[in-house]
Amino acid sequence: MQKKIMAVFGTRPEAIKMAPLMKSLQKNKNYKLIITVTAQHREMLDQVMDLFQLEADYDLDIMKDRQTLSGLSARIITKLDEILADESPDLLLVHGDTSSTFIGALTSFYHQIKIAHVEAGLRTHNKYSPFPEEINRQLTGVLADLNFAPTKRAKENLLLENTNPKKVFVTGNTVIDALLSVVDENYKFENRLLQKLDFKNKKVILLTTHRRENLGEPMENIFTAVQQLTEEINDLEVVFPVHLNPVIRELSKKMFTNNSQVHLIEPLDYLPFANLMARSELVLTDSGGIQEEAPSLGKPVLVLRDTTERPEAVEAGTVLKVGTNTQKIYQQSLKLLTDTEEYKKRAAAVNPYGDGRAVERIIKAIDFYFGTNKLRPDDFEV
Ligand code: UD1
Ligand code: UDP
Repeated sequence: MQKKIMAVFGTRPEAIKMAPLMKSLQKNKNYKLIITVTAQHREMLDQVMDLFQLEADYDLDIMKDRQTLSGLSARIITKLDEILADESPDLLLVHGDTSSTFIGALTSFYHQIKIAHVEAGLRTHNKYSPFPEEINRQLTGVLADLNFAPTKRAKENLLLENTNPKKVFVTGNTVIDALLSVVDENYKFENRLLQKLDFKNKKVILLTTHRRENLGEPMENIFTAVQQLTEEINDLEVVFPVHLNPVIRELSKKMFTNNSQVHLIEPLDYLPFANLMARSELVLTDSGGIQEEAPSLGKPVLVLRDTTERPEAVEAGTVLKVGTNTQKIYQQSLKLLTDTEEYKKRAAAVNPYGDGRAVERIIKAIDFYFGTNKLRPDDFEV
């Protein structure tokens, strides 16, 4: 008898990381997959759905310009409620730590539908950093019946919170499955600027920033550091695909309009973005997913945050937490761009987050949960 699985997600990173799992579940005859997108992100979600040729069965279409956390959550819960009542799936899959994740899990709990949490167990233990993601993922952890922890460390975090170890599987992160499917050294950019960019003779920094706790002064500090770097290094080019949040777009325009070394571009599709990352010298970001991808491509990352829930690559040396202090960002970037030994030390490719087989392990764990596979899958080990 086919089991019905519903996936609920809504932002760009969730879609990227769920895509390989969705493709695999669609092919699996044991399961009927229903995809419900909240569309917490509209354009940035659609980009990913198109790239991976995924179609939503339900689209809640809830995004509003400059949406608040409460408004966003209220719209998701109201619309998802009806769908869950109609569909009543055997298992609901959510991913990570967004509002779509937590509210998806909460609504499912109200219908007593079992919940599986992909990318479970990441923690900073700081309520406001990242905000509101730390609490979103902790609360989703409380609600989850199955936890797919990407790393051993994530599993340990869950066990420290008294999660039943039988409910935790270490699978690796599906982002590595996704990344391996798109990076190609012969890839040709469609974007005119990227086509022309001289990756051989110029130093290229890839910059992204979007965290809610960085909006305002911290983001201004980050941009000031980038400004100073371009004043110091002539052959530096900074590519900044700007998140669609209007607050970030306004500030970045204001800061960089007259800087010919900083290229503000639209959010890139995942395919060009991953290949841009693979060709850049250094990554400056406050993103979660990029902290996992860049190390596996051997790219040093400066994390523009005071905390990280991804300590594995910090320990391996590829990722350095610099916060949002202008001087610190400037000095560390300068060091990496000018000190060859330091660069080499930080540019070793490391893969603490996965081996490209996370989806395979997750599906085995789901089979095990439903009893179609008697064997518990082996944990991912580095
Ligand atoms: C959300 C997640 C965050 C995740 C990030 C990934 C929450 C609370 N935050 O943050 O965990 O790291 O996505 O990028 O779940 N917008 C558009 N079009 C889009 C996307 C966004 O116009 O395709 C604009 C809208 O004005 C929207 C605003 O950006 O109101 C903010 O989007 P929102 O999803 O609330 O927050 P993010 O900062 O993107
Ligand atoms: N990404 C993308 N295009 C961009 C910027 C990022 O495809 O212009 C991808 C990136 O490779 C990663 C994911 O989006 O897989 C990260 O999303 P984001 O930084 O928005 O969210 P976070 O990971 O911080 O939740």
